[in-house]
Amino acid sequence: MSQQNPPLSRRHVLGALPVLAGAGLVACQPKTLLQQMAKHEAKNKDNAMSEPQNAQPLIIAHRGAPGYLPEHTAQGYDLAIRMGADYIEPDLVFTKDGHLIARHDHYLGTTTDVATRPEFANRKTIKDGHEGEEWFSEDFTLAEIKTLRARQAMEARSHAADGQFEILTFAEVIKIAKGRTSMQGNPVGIYPETKLPSYFKSLGYDFETEVLRSLADAGWDQPGSPVFIQSFEDGILRSMRGKTELMLVMLLENADGVDMDAIATYANGIGPYKGLLVNEDGTSSGWIEAAHKAGLKVHPWTFRSDQLPEHFANAQAEYDFFFDLGVDGLFSDFANDARAAILARAARSGTNSL
Ligand code: G3P
Ligand code: CA
Repeated sequence: MSQQNPPLSRRHVLGALPVLAGAGLVACQPKTLLQQMAKHEAKNKDNAMSEPQNAQPLIIAHRGAPGYLPEHTAQGYDLAIRMGADYIEPDLVFTKDGHLIARHDHYLGTTTDVATRPEFANRKTIKDGHEGEEWFSEDFTLAEIKTLRARQAMEARSHAADGQFEILTFAEVIKIAKGRTSMQGNPVGIYPETKLPSYFKSLGYDFETEVLRSLADAGWDQPGSPVFIQSFEDGILRSMRGKTELMLVMLLENADGVDMDAIATYANGIGPYKGLLVNEDGTSSGWIEAAHKAGLKVHPWTFRSDQLPEHFANAQAEYDFFFDLGVDGLFSDFANDARAAILARAARSGTNSL
């Protein structure tokens, strides 16, 4: 697969439109959106020098493009970039021989074909913290991992590409982003998540060193590099703060003990479960305002067009709601829907920002 593919911009977004329109997921007709995109692209060109940074919310391709293709694959990341993502997200775990690979979990049965491989049948085991028998990344060498093939994690999504794509190292994911230009004309960035850093530390693996070394090897270790490093564990972020000026993001899945000012001492942003940003009556929970007051960006997760919260008639409505709340970016399984929502919204407002 070429790493030099241009952004698909209008062709790709429009290619998805018949499906999206049929599902009521876009607010305007293809011709209208084409005109809006042309206008928008012209504005971007004019603004290229004055607005090098994203004036719009960032689209973070959550695990690649898992709405369409198996997660954390080269093909999924490439598709997400061409559909309008600004950043691609690899979740990271370790192999037995200390390589970082892009997997959401250290158990492999959900997203690979390991269960069909007789040569690995005896690796299935039980470990603390996971219910039932499984195959775990830390029991496989990278060479063994490379013999596996990815599969779609969600049963209701297409499994047409199952068994075709290999598992990527972190270095390979960085290489996919490096040198690519987003639909918005910015360098495509990377948004790695350290999964279970304390667990892996207990096994002798050092996330901090490996993540920072991989990024440094790619030349992405300077302030301003298009990198956000995220974790659900504050310890690794606090430690990294003393070693890097790259952007750090504290992931939050509940409201227990959250102190935005304290987070701002070691992180540049928060990545909350999206429900934490909203009260039951649909008003802001105050999280975004508090985070912004503390100087933190807010990037909620996860936006899934095929699993909309019941309050929203379509994906555009959900994106619009969170853009109105003031998010600075969001994690989406469907980067094309997120980009279409931003383009439609920007066209409606007649500006390059929301
Ligand atoms: O990293 C943001 C979001 O991805 C957190 O959820 O479980 O998909 O990694 P998860
Ligand atoms: Ca993640």
